[in-house]
This record gives sequence, structure tokens and C-alpha cells, in this order.
Amino acid sequence: MASIKPRPVKIMDTTLRDAHQSLIATRMTTEQILPIVAKMDKIGFSAMEVWGGATFDACLRFLKEDPWERLRKIKDLAPNTPLQMLFRGQNILGYRHYADDVVEYFVQKSIANGIDNIRIFDALNDIRNLQTAVKAANKEKGHAQVAISYTISDVHTLEYYVNLAKRIQEMGANSICIKDMAGLLVPYAAEELVSALKEAVPEMPIQLHTHYTSGVASMTYLKAIEAGCDIIDTAMSPLAMGTSQPATEVLVKTLQGTPYDTGIDPEALNEITEYFKPMRQEALESGLMSTKVLEVNINTLRYQVPGGMLSNLVSQLKQQKAEDKFDEVLKEIPRVRADFGYLPLVTPTSQIVGTQAVLNVLAGERYKMITKESKGIVRGEYGMTPVPIKEDIVKKIIGDDERITCRPADLLKPELDKLEKEMTMYKQQDEDVLSYALFPQVATEFFKYREAQQTKVDPNVADTKNKAYPV
Ligand code: CO
Repeated sequence: MASIKPRPVKIMDTTLRDAHQSLIATRMTTEQILPIVAKMDKIGFSAMEVWGGATFDACLRFLKEDPWERLRKIKDLAPNTPLQMLFRGQNILGYRHYADDVVEYFVQKSIANGIDNIRIFDALNDIRNLQTAVKAANKEKGHAQVAISYTISDVHTLEYYVNLAKRIQEMGANSICIKDMAGLLVPYAAEELVSALKEAVPEMPIQLHTHYTSGVASMTYLKAIEAGCDIIDTAMSPLAMGTSQPATEVLVKTLQGTPYDTGIDPEALNEITEYFKPMRQEALESGLMSTKVLEVNINTLRYQVPGGMLSNLVSQLKQQKAEDKFDEVLKEIPRVRADFGYLPLVTPTSQIVGTQAVLNVLAGERYKMITKESKGIVRGEYGMTPVPIKEDIVKKIIGDDERITCRPADLLKPELDKLEKEMTMYKQQDEDVLSYALFPQVATEFFKYREAQQTKVDPNVADTKNKAYPV
């Protein structure tokens, strides 16, 4: 090892976003976050992921918090460390395609309120769904990172990923992340993939994001680092492993004194570890953290489908009293995926493929019953599939219906003005229209709650500990 030129690896800490999203249903409150932020800011993380993903929805829906205010407060306490968010391309943080004016405004406001790095991805890896967000981040002088949704299939070859990486570089991204949301990336495959990307786009920093679900994540990081990976995503140990990321402390210690030394002082992490320990204990005791998500889920690797998708299948089949069909459904999944142009399996495509596979098996005939979402995929409503869907499948699923071949958002008219009009009576800050755009009902309820709080402030009435709020 002495002969290797020093190449410090950077650590991106996910504790305040992905880790609690993965282990405790995104329920960490701003009150729990703030006391530790200044200390985390001093560690020397390359960035901290603190926002986006499901946190926005969870703030408004379950915690009755303004997500924008959370971001501003974290930023105030973390002047040194770039703050990162996860952004679902044209879906922003919601569940449909939004018009470009909403995407652009969301990026602008995210950066204005404290975000430095925007990690942008699309379930289909259709880079047309990323364009608007990347351009907007460039314009606002943010760091635009494009994340490749990692999956395994006949068409997801090294060549496919290399090709994608080149197009991502051309579109103006500042770095690339390999996003292995299901923990499918095994160590030697990671070594191959990172080497190939480093060779194809040597100027681009390569970051690796994985989950511990299948038990291989730390080994995967090590092989990726040896192959040239620049940044890895980890979480502080009390909120690490299981369906979350590998532990920050462990990786820092592993790399210490090697050519990949992160430069982070392992001792400095201790105070942060201690801060999060009681939170884990409490979550385990209350049942918010289930021991189920902490186990190694080996089925993920056996079937190469995300763990969450497997448990959904089991419950779907149970409801139909058809648990004995589990193996058949597992065999049907890769066939449906192939029919649908080899979709990566991530929200929402994992549900779409899973449900269609169940229907194909239960009906005793393939595509006798077809879901609305399956039709949407074939019509092109979600974007372009990794490879074109074969003509006979298209005919079978949607007959002679028209298909969308353009970028889906090209069909959407600007919608900000209309949204603004709908919610203007609740507006207290510019950002409120964006909360409303993403989650109209949930945001409206939050706005009403906020107003009620402001008019009759009585902290004795709100039982914050039990998340019970009078409205
Ligand atoms: Co993740």
C-alpha cells in the first residue's frame, strides 16, 4: 500500500436525511437535529445530506414543521459544510411530473435557503427528466450531481453505464453518483463499475451511495475506493446499517493511515455518536425502528430486487390468499421487466412491475389484467425506458393508443401562476407555493395548522412529544 499515491476519500454524511428516512420513517424532528449540527459542521464532511427525499413530505405531513424553516436553521448552524438534498428530477420531491417553471423555482429556492449540492435522479435514468433541474442548479451556482439509478439486468452492462455517464457529463453535471438504492451492488462489481466510469469520465468526481440491506455495503465501498471512487455516503453508527448506510465512524477508521485517509479525526466523531445513541434506543423501544430493517436481507441479492419490493409482494399475495405463488411471481418479475424495457426497480417502477407480475401470475394468463400504471409506462408517461419496448407488448398493453415520445414535461404548461392563485390566502413566504405545488392537501392542512398556532399560541395544548397537535 505504501506505493499508492495518497488519494484522500471524502465522506458525505447522510444521518440527517437518508439514514432516518431508511430506519425511522423520516421522523427525526428539527428539534432533534439542531443541537448537533454545529458539531457535525466542524468534522470535515465533504457535505451533509439534510434535506429532500421524503423529509419534505414528512415535515409537512407528520411533524407539522415547515421544511424551508428547517433548512434555514440547519444552514445557520453549518456555515462550513456544503448541504445536500436529494431531488427526483422532474418529480422534484413529489409523485408526478411538474412543469419546468415549478422545477426551476424549486431549485432556485432550495439554493437560496441553504442547499449547496443537489443530487438529481430519475427512476428510468431518462436524462431528459433531469435536464431542467441540472440547468437550474447550474444557473443558481449550485453543485449539480446526477445520480444513476443502479440496477442489474441484461441491458445494464458496463457499456450502458459508461454511455450514461458520458451523457451526464455533457449535460453539465458537476459530479456523478452511483445510486444503489437497493444494496444490489456487490464489491467486485463495484470495482469494475467505478473503474469503467473513472476511465470514461476522468474529470468527474464519482460518488457511491448504497444501503446496507444485503450486508455487503462496507466491502463494496472498500473495493470502489480502491478503484478510484472519490466520495462515499455513510451515516453515524446509531443510525447506520440495516436499510441505512454503512457507519461513518467505521469507514473513517478503516481508511485512517492508508493512502485513502479521509482526514477526519475519529475521536471528533465520538461526541456525535453519543448524541444519536439515545435516539436509536428510544426508536427501538417505541417501535419506530423495527429490528426487521436492521437484519441482513439476503433475498435482495438472491432475487436482485429491492427488499421493500419483496415484502410488498408477500403482503399482496397474502391478501389474495396466494402465498404459494411467491416463487412464480419472483420468476415473473424479470420477464415483466424485460417486457417493459428493463426498468430499474425503484419507486415507482418497483411497485408497477411488482403489481403487474402478481396480476400475470394470479390471472393465469400474462397481461389479461393490466394496471393503469403499466399502461402509463408503455405509453411513455414516465419517460424513455432503458431499451425500447417491443411492438407486440405495446399492442398487448395499450392497443393503438398514442404514445409519448417527447420528454413528458414538454406536454405540461407552466403552472406556477395557477398554483399561486389557489393558495394565496395561506401564503406567508414565497416558498409556500412550492410546498403547495408538491403536496396540495397536506400543505393546506399545514398552513391552517400554522395559522391556528399563530393566533392562539398555547404550548400546553400541543402535545409535541406524542406528535398530537390541535388544529
Ligand atoms: Co438512499
